[in-house]
Amino acid sequence: MSVIYVDGGRPLRGEIGLQGSKNTVLPMLAASILNKGSLRLNHCPKIADVDSMLALLEQMGCLVKRDGDSIEIDASSLDSVQVAPEYGKRMRSSLFLLGPMLGRMKRAVAVYPGGCVIGERPIDIHLAAFRRMQVEIEENAEFLSLSTAGLKGNRIILGFPSVGATENVVMAAVLAEGTTCIYNAAREPEIIELCLLLKAMGADISGEGSGCLRIRGVKRLHDAEYTVKGDRIVAGTYLAAALATQGEILLETDCLFHMEGILRALERAGARLFIGKDHVRLISRGRAGRVRRLVTEPYPGFPTDMQSQMMAVLAGARGVSVIEERIFESRFRICEELRRMGAIIETDGPRARICGVSELSGARMEAKELRGGAALIIAALMAEGESAIEGVGYIERGYEDICGVLSSLGARIKKEEC
Ligand code: EPZ
Repeated sequence: MSVIYVDGGRPLRGEIGLQGSKNTVLPMLAASILNKGSLRLNHCPKIADVDSMLALLEQMGCLVKRDGDSIEIDASSLDSVQVAPEYGKRMRSSLFLLGPMLGRMKRAVAVYPGGCVIGERPIDIHLAAFRRMQVEIEENAEFLSLSTAGLKGNRIILGFPSVGATENVVMAAVLAEGTTCIYNAAREPEIIELCLLLKAMGADISGEGSGCLRIRGVKRLHDAEYTVKGDRIVAGTYLAAALATQGEILLETDCLFHMEGILRALERAGARLFIGKDHVRLISRGRAGRVRRLVTEPYPGFPTDMQSQMMAVLAGARGVSVIEERIFESRFRICEELRRMGAIIETDGPRARICGVSELSGARMEAKELRGGAALIIAALMAEGESAIEGVGYIERGYEDICGVLSSLGARIKKEEC
């Protein structure tokens, strides 16, 4: 078991780059099977979820080659309609394979992706959309089996602008017969990037970034190469850590345009931001300030994936803040861990009231999911004394070399096997 040890109380200072976006590259890897040829993706993050998705693709008969931060997938010899159960349970992103498998093989068999500590995470919106495209679905407690005589384009209204469901339907629609219109589609940057990749592969898509997508089915796709943009949530995480530790960092990034909701939240908490063409400098002005009310919303609002990180920042801020989590039903699990450090947080359903304290104390804590784990590291960096954080595997699902990046900014942080 790995444990991350942090000796806190030091301001982060320095310059860092930015890894490629996890939530962009995962659906893109799934999309690779739509083409009976090869896809090359550059600037891919070296993280556990990418490793798992590549292992899934190899088990389905794809050839995978890695060259630095580039990944090449040759899906010409794809020969399976089964998503390997051991990955399907562990990684919700395996769900993204259903749409491409239906498009390529007209069939898909998968286990129900597990829920996790942040919520039950049903897939009803995905399945309702597939049924509108003439997909037959058999379900039992463990498995679901999807099949179609041929995907048919249709008009689809999503019950919620689900990111994953939007991505799944787009990937199913690109090879379907006829035109598909998706209403109440998610507008996240990851959707835009996926549509741009699919268009580079020969798909006919319009409306990406709006709430209404139109996809005209084509006969086949072709080889392509695409460079993944920086991870906006990882960028926000490091900026939040700099604010929490009263430091100053410069972060190079090509995804600033997609970060408005995050940057506004940091400024409301007292950060001074200087934004350049391909970088942002954050300068803190002492302890962070309270944020009267911070609400998570679909893009372009403040993203739920930054909620835990801001919770950690506000735990040490001046004054009382309120966070309202509107996307997932139980994304406050880190409160019990932050309380071990002396944080004063009361939760009531979707609302958390955080009374900032002048000093948090190091403690032993356990990460139970990805973004909560990153938030515990932020709190540990801010706290006086040493902290130990278990559940490192969750953090490594989405953050490439987080200890190395933070050490380069002056943090005293290390990972040890115990
Ligand atoms: C994606 O998850 C991201 N994951 C999540 O990031 C992110 O938090 C989420 O979008 C929201 O932005 C990836 O892209 C791999 P949703 P996804 O479908 O697609 C409900 C991270 O930390 N819902 O937009 O699963 C659902 O329960 C991860 O990187 C249904 O009810 O999210 C949730 O309450 C965590 N039925 C809400 O919609 C469905 O069929 C948003 O979920 C689908 C979703």
